[in-house]
Amino acid sequence: MLLEGRAGLVTGAAGGIGRGIAITLAEEGAAVVVADLERSREGGEETVAKIEAKGGRAIFVACDVTSSQETQSLVDQCIEKYGELDFAVNNAGVAVVKPLAENSDEDYRLVTSVNLDGTFYGMRAQLKHMASRGTGAIVNIASVAGLAAVRNIGIYTATKHGIIGMTKNAAMEYGAQGVRINAVCPNAIRTPLLEGAPEEFRESLIAPQAIKRLGEPEEVGDAVAWLLSDKAAYITGVALPVDGGYLTGP
Ligand SMILES: NC(=O)c1ccc[n+]([C@@H]2O[C@H](COP(=O)([O-])OP(=O)(O)OC[C@H]3O[C@@H](n4cnc5c(N)ncnc54)[C@H](O)[C@@H]3O)[C@@H](O)[C@H]2O)c1
Repeated sequence: MLLEGRAGLVTGAAGGIGRGIAITLAEEGAAVVVADLERSREGGEETVAKIEAKGGRAIFVACDVTSSQETQSLVDQCIEKYGELDFAVNNAGVAVVKPLAENSDEDYRLVTSVNLDGTFYGMRAQLKHMASRGTGAIVNIASVAGLAAVRNIGIYTATKHGIIGMTKNAAMEYGAQGVRINAVCPNAIRTPLLEGAPEEFRESLIAPQAIKRLGEPEEVGDAVAWLLSDKAAYITGVALPVDGGYLTGP
């Protein structure tokens, strides 16, 4: 198993891609702190139950990533429960779908606070601990919208580009202290939101891809598990597309 004996956290893991990542990491032997908003506790506890049903170890911790205090406390609680923070996955994210100039101040604040502030607060707490210990690995969940424009999600695109920038800088600054930081860039992944969307919308997402199907959350999880593991020991600062070939072009 890739992560035998390791412990760490996944934010936004009450459902969707975060749940898929948490389950995959647990299957690879990791103890996982499943973090999400208090109002998503039920989903978070369901993720924990799915992991435990397969013989894995997990706990739910409520954490709003837009709070620097709560992101620090999340790191502390992982160390308290499992003795260490070997890895962290900053996955919590939101999008507002509108042409750029239609976004309100509130839309802008929501998307930037969860995606960018949340990733920064998370990484700051995680990096301080990992650097002092001289080992650790972080994966930030960006998007293909971190590498190219995607119509009607301009603020989201800006935040995901920002997450990749932060990933590269952290990789440069903390490599000598034994910490690797990478990003994963999904395209169309089967989450409850997309499952509930009209068929034509799903088709429009898949159409530009080389692989003509939705990706599974666990397929993102497999890439994350590998990047967190010693199999990727010489890899840091990359933004890895997990996109069915979306970025290869039409
Ligand atoms: N679904 C896709 O196809 C896709 C594609 C590219 C990138 N992504 C990225 O993957 C990540 C997960 O997306 P998803 O599709 O699973 O979305 P989702 O909405 O199903 O899950 C996001 C989770 O984040 C949580 N969350 C929201 N605000 C939070 C906060 N302030 N603090 C803590 N948790 C919070 C939500 O409660 C939810 O459980 C996001 O970063 C998203 O941008 C998704």
